[in-house]
Amino acid sequence: MNKRATIKISNIIKEAKDIKTFVFKHNLGAKPGQFIMLTDFEGGEKPFSLADCDTNTFTVTVKRIGEFTSRLFQKEIGDFLSVRGPFGSSFFISKGSVLLVGGGYGTPPLYFLAKELLKNGASVTVVNGAKSKDDLVFCDRFRELGVHYSNITQLGCLGREGTSVDLAQSALAKTKFDYVYAAGPEMMLKALQPILKEHEYEFLFERYMKCAIGICGNCTIDPLGIRLCVEGPVLPKKLVEQLTEFGKYHRDATGKRIEY
Ligand SMILES: Cc1cc2nc3c(=O)[nH]c(=O)nc-3n(C[C@H](O)[C@H](O)[C@H](O)COP(=O)(O)OP(=O)(O)OC[C@H]3O[C@@H](n4cnc5c(N)ncnc54)[C@H](O)[C@@H]3O)c2cc1C
Ligand code: FES
Repeated sequence: MNKRATIKISNIIKEAKDIKTFVFKHNLGAKPGQFIMLTDFEGGEKPFSLADCDTNTFTVTVKRIGEFTSRLFQKEIGDFLSVRGPFGSSFFISKGSVLLVGGGYGTPPLYFLAKELLKNGASVTVVNGAKSKDDLVFCDRFRELGVHYSNITQLGCLGREGTSVDLAQSALAKTKFDYVYAAGPEMMLKALQPILKEHEYEFLFERYMKCAIGICGNCTIDPLGIRLCVEGPVLPKKLVEQLTEFGKYHRDATGKRIEY
């Protein structure tokens, strides 16, 4: 879908030091894992995953990084933003016992996924990791959903020191999961991959996107030429295993390779 809607921000929730959730009243009709392109018409249009979506509301959770996201942070309730989408592939909604692995500001789309999995009768375990307390989001929301939830920081602010991959490893040793889902920095996904040899999984990839409709080719990933804005951002194990550039390099706005 490539519909545009210019919509009022109906609420803004401060999640952490540099992370805010923007709430919109609109029937977007998105599925977990999909993303929107957001603009304020003041320069640039950027992709953001849906952190939640139902028939009259959707939310995106934004980490302040550069120029565009800093401008978003100055917006107030009642300001208008323009949205295109939803775009891309979505997560498979499994039954049975499932593990969700989130990292940093990559975790929020797993909240939308967790809600849909619970509706489908799945037993949901969430492990959530971030560098520090300031980057850890959605802890209370996951707990309120009633999923099995644990979190960790690399700096050990909450006790144990480590990553969501460490938590995932412990969870996989204790429970037999039917399906694993992950969203977060690409190097987190790369570290997770070897411990999922025996499991079916899907990963959500974030790569530089411009058009979001499969035309510009900026988001293609070697060697399959998959356009992450159309065939992704959610990819299943059988495709992830064939990606030669996964965890090695990505591309900037000009298409130039950047090594990890
Ligand atoms: C499918 C997808 C879902 C995303 N979901 C979220 C989300 O839920 N929350 C969130 O905070 N961020 C999300 N991002 C990343 C977000 O788009 C960037 O953080 C944002 O564009 C940064 O813009 P900036 O001008 O503030 O920073 P800049 O200074 O322009 O860029 C900082 C970094 O952000 C990334 N980035 C910049 N422009 C783009 C672009 N057009 N496409 C992809 N990455 C870009 C690059 O890694 C870049 O190095 C997502 C990206 C993708 C591809
Ligand atoms: S962003 Fe243009 S093809 Fe994917």
